[in-house]
Amino acid sequence: MKSSNIFPRHTNYDLPNAVRGEGCYIIDKNEKWYLDASGGAAVSSLGHSDKTVQKAIIEQTEKLAFAHTSFFTSDPAEKLARLLADKSPSGLNKVYFVSSGSEAVEASLKLARQYFVEIGQPERHRVISRKQSYHGNTLGALAAGGNVWRRTFFEKILIDTSLISPCYPYRHQKNNETEIEYGLRVANELEDQIKFLGSKNVMAFIAETVVGATAGAVTPVTGYFKRIREICDKYGILLILDEVMCGMGRTGSLFACDEEEIIPDIITIAKGLGAGYQPIGAMMCQDYIYDAISNGSGFFQHGHTYLGHPIACAASLAVLTKLIDEGMFKQVKEKGNILQRTLQRDIGQNQFVGDIRGRGLFRGIEIVKNKSTKEPFPKKFNIANKIKKEALNIGLICYPMQGTIDGSIGDHILLAPPFIINENEINEISLKLKSTIENVCDEYK
Ligand SMILES: Cc1ncc(COP(=O)(O)O)c(C=O)c1O
Repeated sequence: MKSSNIFPRHTNYDLPNAVRGEGCYIIDKNEKWYLDASGGAAVSSLGHSDKTVQKAIIEQTEKLAFAHTSFFTSDPAEKLARLLADKSPSGLNKVYFVSSGSEAVEASLKLARQYFVEIGQPERHRVISRKQSYHGNTLGALAAGGNVWRRTFFEKILIDTSLISPCYPYRHQKNNETEIEYGLRVANELEDQIKFLGSKNVMAFIAETVVGATAGAVTPVTGYFKRIREICDKYGILLILDEVMCGMGRTGSLFACDEEEIIPDIITIAKGLGAGYQPIGAMMCQDYIYDAISNGSGFFQHGHTYLGHPIACAASLAVLTKLIDEGMFKQVKEKGNILQRTLQRDIGQNQFVGDIRGRGLFRGIEIVKNKSTKEPFPKKFNIANKIKKEALNIGLICYPMQGTIDGSIGDHILLAPPFIINENEINEISLKLKSTIENVCDEYK
């Protein structure tokens, strides 16, 4: 491995070499099997060997691999866009395909800006987002995100954005407030921030409907997003929901915001859209935003070479058709409840497990040093990283992350297994996590 020419994510680790996939497992060159309990990073919703998706890719490859979107549209892209629009919350009828989540977020920010210029409100340029959010690694998306450690090196070259508190009841709900009161308190921070910046300067508020990578499957409390929607409407600000991680069935509905009963102005999706079979993302917007562009300049000043790639769209169409036709959203809810119960049974009482949370097959486990005070482990122990390594050792892929509380301290493990997972595999996840957490945390208590 030392002689590899790949520029890896981390320069000091030797990684196993993945050669095949079977169901929920990835198998390496040495025939070691890894149960994929996080779908990589909430990507592989159909596991690693789905025949229908494989067939769709081969068939499209044989017909047409690529046709640049400045010259052509294509059937797979048209059909996929139609399906997404038909199944989306009302009015989100225009779909802009990209190749990743970061690209979807970049496109949404640029669309928000162009929209306001087109409708004669060019002073609107400020983006408000939340602490402990992640919206991607390209410069615009990184600026919109509120995760301290990911931003640190690049702070000086990021556009100015404003951060309000996340909706994170395990850490921030006060003893003397109800969940609803808590949700309203943190949602109202948006209004304070808008007033502070001057409402005519603000173009968008962006948030993950269910927070993924940075805080570990943190679901909003009831009423939170309804209040956010109200505030955005009051001040004419676009609500962008980032469902790159939590969308496409992960929480038990195609769009996670379906459960919040609100409709965003723009929504971003990726990851589960291609389920790992192809790199694809999308930004979807309300008709009136599209109409402003269409009746104005007539073009969105954006674009990438691989927009609407026919093979990626064909794969995604096969993924979504399968999710819908096989009633997988219901299964995600049921299996998610089984996963939650199994985790509660096996690690719920563990002294290092502070919280087990989430929705559908999107679950987070917050690791603490002290269960009753919720004190986290000191940063220097880097518990998340040790859990990741130990789990991989025993054949379990999970997605631990440090910085849960403020981007620096706190540790959690994110689980996002394939929707095809069965009860035996759920048990395997839970028992392997139990031994991993015990082995790693015991050493540092
Ligand atoms: C909510 C959210 N937005 C955007 C992104 C960026 O997506 P990508 O890594 O495909 O660029 C991620 C990735 O984890 C994400 O979780």
